[in-house]
Amino acid sequence: MSILPNQDHGKVTVPELMQRKNLAADSRNARKVTCLTAYDYPTARLIDEAGVDIVLVGDSVAMVMLGYDSTLPLTLDEALHHTKAVRRGVQRALVVADMPYGSYHGEIHESLRNAMRFVKEAGAEAVKIEGGERRLELISRLTEAEIPVMGHVGLTPQSSTMLGGFKTQGKTSEAARRLVEEALELEAAGCFAVVLEAVPAPVGAEITRRLRVPTIGIGAGAGCDGQVLVYHDLLGLTEGHIPRFVKRYANLSREIRDALEAYVHDVRTGTFPEEQHTYTISDGELERFEEAVESLGPSRD
Ligand code: KIV
Repeated sequence: MSILPNQDHGKVTVPELMQRKNLAADSRNARKVTCLTAYDYPTARLIDEAGVDIVLVGDSVAMVMLGYDSTLPLTLDEALHHTKAVRRGVQRALVVADMPYGSYHGEIHESLRNAMRFVKEAGAEAVKIEGGERRLELISRLTEAEIPVMGHVGLTPQSSTMLGGFKTQGKTSEAARRLVEEALELEAAGCFAVVLEAVPAPVGAEITRRLRVPTIGIGAGAGCDGQVLVYHDLLGLTEGHIPRFVKRYANLSREIRDALEAYVHDVRTGTFPEEQHTYTISDGELERFEEAVESLGPSRD
């Protein structure tokens, strides 16, 4: 593949991502920001080696890895545990940890302490928090404390109860205008990038034109500065309802199922293990072994 954004530029950093926004329009496509979620070490390694710019330890881990039916039950300790594993697998990409529901909704000093745990204990280079106006004070406090923050507006799954479900946002002119304002407010508060989730493409494009920091879209159209997807969605590992914005690049569920059924079949039919999977013992040692076990009495068959 000829264009692997930033692969020749070494470590992805917050300033470098922000600079990409200032590139000439014709080179901007080749420098689009790529982002994928990861929750474990081997996946993080593969994603990093593929040249992805940002590895997001999304709170989607709650649903795709831990089997919860929303992101809300994820605990701070669970999120830290997954971030540590991802950190060990990444060398080049920027590691961003999603702060789980409840870890930044209380007192500012407690939210700050929780964010610092992602940096100090888990090795995250930035945190992501959901929401607009209500998060502005926290975002400025985090950036004052040298913690880069990625914002997230539009459909924010942690507020799905308040939003009445997982619904596209910014569908009326007023709601769309409010989204533009919110994104600008996040930028002014100090966010180095803003995720736009499930908003109409023209709204995503308008926000992207107005912001000086990159927008990372998920269901926000091709006008954003970058894209993010959930790893399991991209590889066809998610079952059940798949959002419209997902593009599947593989059907790994089917491949895994086929492989597991073949294993069960092989063991049951004696096709596995074969000689090549088996360890040997010299003839002399085998003879002595057989004599030795005879003294234990007859075997059962
Ligand atoms: O948790 C997550 O995976 C996310 C992305 C979808 C942006 O927040």
